Amino acid sequence: MRLSGTAIICISTTAIACRHDWIHNPRAKKLQRLAKRQVEYPPVLSDAEQILVNSFDNNSISDWAYYYTHGDHLGGSHNKSMAQWTADRWNENGLNASLYEIPVYTTYPQHSSLAIRYTNSSVHNANLIEDVLVEDDTTSFPNRIPAFHAMSASGKVIAEYVYVGRGAQGDFNRLRELGIELEGKVAVAMYGGIYRGIKVKNAQDNGMAGAVLFTDSLDDGEITTKNGYAAYPIDGPARQPSSIQRGSVRFSSLYSGDPTTVGYASGPGAPRGDTTPYTPSIPSIPVSMIDAVKILGALNGHGFSGQKVNRSSYVGHLEDVEYFSGPAPGVTINITHFMKSSITPVWNVIGVINGTSQDEVVIVGNHRDAWVIGGAADPNSGSAILIEMSRAFGKLLAQGWKPKRTILLASWDAEEFGLQGSTEWVESHLPWLTSVSVSYLNIDIGVGGPRTGLSGTGDLQTIATETMKKILYPEGYGVGPTLYDSWRNYTEGYIPPLGSGSDYAAFWHNGISALDISSDAGPTDPVYHYHSNYDTFHWMVNFGDPGFHVHTAMGQFMSLLTYTIADSRILPYDLPNYENVLQDYYNELLETIADANVDLNTTPLRDAIGTFGEKAAQITSAGQTAQMLNDTAIIQVINSKYRDFQRGFVSQGGLPSRNTFRNVLSAPGLDNGYGAVVFPPITEGVESGDLAQAEEWIQKSANAILRAAEILDIDYGKVGS
Ligand SMILES: *[C@@H]1O[C@H](CO)[C@@H](O)[C@H](O)[C@H]1NC(C)=O
Ligand SMILES: *[C@@H]1O[C@H](CO)[C@@H](O)[C@H](O)[C@H]1NC(C)=O
Ligand SMILES: *[C@@H]1O[C@H](CO)[C@@H](O)[C@H](O)[C@H]1NC(C)=O
Ligand SMILES: *[C@@H]1O[C@H](CO)[C@@H](O)[C@H](O)[C@H]1NC(C)=O
Ligand SMILES: *[C@@H]1O[C@H](CO)[C@@H](O)[C@H](O)[C@H]1NC(C)=O
Ligand SMILES: *[C@@H]1O[C@H](CO)[C@@H](O)[C@H](O)[C@H]1NC(C)=O
Ligand SMILES: *[C@@H]1O[C@H](CO)[C@@H](O)[C@H](O)[C@H]1NC(C)=O
Ligand SMILES: *[C@@H]1O[C@H](CO)[C@@H](O)[C@H](O)[C@H]1NC(C)=O
Ligand SMILES: *[C@@H]1O[C@H](CO)[C@@H](O)[C@H](O)[C@H]1NC(C)=O
Ligand SMILES: [Zn+2]
Repeated sequence: MRLSGTAIICISTTAIACRHDWIHNPRAKKLQRLAKRQVEYPPVLSDAEQILVNSFDNNSISDWAYYYTHGDHLGGSHNKSMAQWTADRWNENGLNASLYEIPVYTTYPQHSSLAIRYTNSSVHNANLIEDVLVEDDTTSFPNRIPAFHAMSASGKVIAEYVYVGRGAQGDFNRLRELGIELEGKVAVAMYGGIYRGIKVKNAQDNGMAGAVLFTDSLDDGEITTKNGYAAYPIDGPARQPSSIQRGSVRFSSLYSGDPTTVGYASGPGAPRGDTTPYTPSIPSIPVSMIDAVKILGALNGHGFSGQKVNRSSYVGHLEDVEYFSGPAPGVTINITHFMKSSITPVWNVIGVINGTSQDEVVIVGNHRDAWVIGGAADPNSGSAILIEMSRAFGKLLAQGWKPKRTILLASWDAEEFGLQGSTEWVESHLPWLTSVSVSYLNIDIGVGGPRTGLSGTGDLQTIATETMKKILYPEGYGVGPTLYDSWRNYTEGYIPPLGSGSDYAAFWHNGISALDISSDAGPTDPVYHYHSNYDTFHWMVNFGDPGFHVHTAMGQFMSLLTYTIADSRILPYDLPNYENVLQDYYNELLETIADANVDLNTTPLRDAIGTFGEKAAQITSAGQTAQMLNDTAIIQVINSKYRDFQRGFVSQGGLPSRNTFRNVLSAPGLDNGYGAVVFPPITEGVESGDLAQAEEWIQKSANAILRAAEILDIDYGKVGS
């Protein structure tokens, strides 16, 4: 995913957890490495694998899901009992689980209102909470959470407004080019494409006074009322029109975690810094499609037409809206918004299965906090799966099994505010984590629909796809018979690099190999009401995953993958594939350079990848030989190298302008916030015309890859087998 705004947005390919926008990489087809291989069918499982897979019970997953989706568990809402309940379930299954309390910065609205005043002086007040649906019990909970933007600024604004499309930098530039005055106006932006906080940042950077973000049926694929589908909840897979997408508007491409302790752990006595660089200074409010029609409809015929603005995804699908830029003279938005911030305790839950080696640790994590009373998809499909997974591992433990490597299960809190629980925990355990972690597996929206997506590092890709071949996919969903077939059909085998948007970020930026696993809705699936009060148990049972069979398949997949990584004699990493992935990133960079028509010598990077490839091939064959000779000493050395080599990709000073993003291989795009850019400082230097930065980082990135290659190098003299 590049920064230039040329990427097309469509509902396909990969899901990145905690978001509902699919960013299709136009180069995905060229990046395909995973040819369709013969799938062994029916899959052959070992005894232990059989125990894990057979342990999964859709009825108990449904029970866990029911529990998680019937109480307020927004980060900072003091629902410690849910954290304790999670620890209790894990403990019952033989994990040693405890709570870790962290005080973090959170925000909550005290007063929030948005009104439109038309030229005839009539006023329309937007509804900042969804309609109550009698069929769906949790939509009427008295403590249901209003729709708001965490980390948004307080403020009162009355101003005319301009429709800014998806709100990317290119949209604002185009509107300026057309001569539209932006200063002092309110930006009205369509959700999707990029992270919401970046839309608000761009509005702020263009001198605008406030922002309103709306949902459009453009992103609902074929499942729209326009196409004849009924809306949720009555017989309807289409979007309930009053649904509103909540979410944080922090500047996610600049930092992760608690914005008052960027780069260090939030503890009881931790000094707390200014949030200004990391959070908006203008107020912003999310609205539904119903209110978007009232807001955008008033711009019809004013300013420039969508055709004239000519930006991708500028023209959406709302009825009675012509998608003019505005402003409409005299038509104003009145935003009144008071946010309260506080330092609040949140609770991570960490469960442990000790391995025979405690120097190698596999971590599996999911966040627990949700934007709404439900959260059936985001994130509690993953939470229910983790409990069932602890039950499956409990069965192995009961037979006296002890994994070779230690397994940690993590239930993170306050992810939705900005990955706070995971980031602060990583920051407070950093020296230990960088010495023992072999990989971090993340599951956030475990099930938002039937389309499985992966993103992650090159070492883990092969074992992940091989493991998917062992999982039967539920009949009646897409293409089977295995999860692999289904995944491959939806994604064409493309595994994107890690950007941001869920709890893997802190691990990856400290050089820990990571994989993000999710399932989402596609263009022909029931619309998943992301971050809305309709992400509920009722929706899941009736539309998202009736029977909880996708939950079951995802859980079986996570369990076998965790088991294989934790218990294989040699870590099941594919290093030659890592080289291929680096080569793909490099080719993508070359295309960026060609598109920008600049002259840059990338030879150091190419050569470094070549050296990495040699070491990758060498250690792979050393591993095969050691296994053949049953050479325990060499196997131990190889495992430690597999564990450690990615620390080499970390730049100690961080990437330019964002020192907690430190991995030179990928980071969220500065103007995207979710989707990844590869070799970020080089790509950004090329695209912004800062060739000095690009040159400097070609060398630094090459050095980082050489450091990783050096860690992989096996000195047989020293091993002394
Ligand atoms: C915490 O969440 C649980 C499970 O959803 C719920 O039963 C409980 O009422 C919640 N506690 C509070 C204080 O809201
Ligand atoms: C469980 O974990 C706690 C906290 O880490 C530790 O104090 C305790 O010794 C552990 N118990 C067992 C049985 O390992
Ligand atoms: C005022 O204008 C709005 C927008 O065109 C329209 O919906 C509303 O009905 C009008 N009100 C009156 C009283 O004419
Ligand atoms: C829209 O922009 C594209 C390039 O981004 C250009 O090729 C096309 O001619 C433009 N269309 C109009 C109607 O201006
Ligand atoms: C703007 O909205 C606020 C909050 O509802 C209200 O108090 C105020 O009177 C409104 N201002 C105007 C000019 O309508
Ligand atoms: C795991 O190992 C640690 C460190 O040796 C020990 O303190 C802890 O009690 C063990 N926990 C379990 C559950 O065996
Ligand atoms: C996915 O499955 C559909 C239906 O069987 C088929 O038409 C399509 O070609 C498949 N796509 C891929 C990439 O395998
Ligand atoms: C579990 O699966 C069985 C078999 O498909 C089904 O009859 C049952 O209703 C499912 N349970 C739940 C809670 O959906
Ligand atoms: C490999 O070596 C280990 C430890 O030296 C030993 O316990 C094991 O039985 C050996 N395995 C084979 C297949 O020889
Ligand atoms: Zn989430």
